[in-house]
Amino acid sequence: MIKVAIVVGSTRPGRKADTVAGWVHGIAKQRGDAEYDIVDIQDFNLPLLDEPIPPSQGKYTQPHTLAWAAKVAAYDAYVFVTPEYNHGPSGALKNALDFVYGEWNNKAAGFVGYGSAGGVRAVEQLRLIAAELQLATVRAQVQLSLFTDFEKFTTFKPDPSKEKGVNAMLDQLVSWGTALQTVRVKK
Ligand SMILES: Cc1cc2nc3c(=O)[nH]c(=O)nc-3n(C[C@H](O)[C@H](O)[C@H](O)COP(=O)(O)O)c2cc1C
Repeated sequence: MIKVAIVVGSTRPGRKADTVAGWVHGIAKQRGDAEYDIVDIQDFNLPLLDEPIPPSQGKYTQPHTLAWAAKVAAYDAYVFVTPEYNHGPSGALKNALDFVYGEWNNKAAGFVGYGSAGGVRAVEQLRLIAAELQLATVRAQVQLSLFTDFEKFTTFKPDPSKEKGVNAMLDQLVSWGTALQTVRVKK
């Protein structure tokens, strides 16, 4: 079975990302087709990228980078739970993506976005970033609306139909995440 990280994409105090990630995790755990964990970037206290050598060279120097790299390396696929900030992803998520490189390569990614327009603009940007990280992004994505999936724009009450969307995304993610294992060269 592959290992899938559900990445909490906001570090903002009072964030919604952790609640949304918990909901995704609850659905995922019932499937029995992969190991699903929550990975919270907040736990790694990453500063703004402070590595002197570009991460694509894999010469990490900082303890926080090594800890984050080990965490990312432990998974075959990722679900990025992402807010939309000014039509893009959060700076915290972009920074966490930038911090390491090889650990993302030849793996699969899916997205759960939320915002006034379902987080779609943030997800589109993340798809471009993922391409450079050699992360294969699946087509199916979950779009949660601040208007209809959050009561008073605050309390998360997803429309029941959204669970089907999570499963559709995970079907593709587990399929690609499994297939891409064969591409990776064991170091
Ligand atoms: C800096 C900032 C910019 C935002 N820009 C957008 C935006 O462009 N589109 C949108 O749908 N929501 C936007 N929002 C609203 C967020 O979708 C909403 O605050 C959401 O709860 C943020 O996710 P989080 O609570 O997990 O951090 C913005 C919020 C912040 C804090």
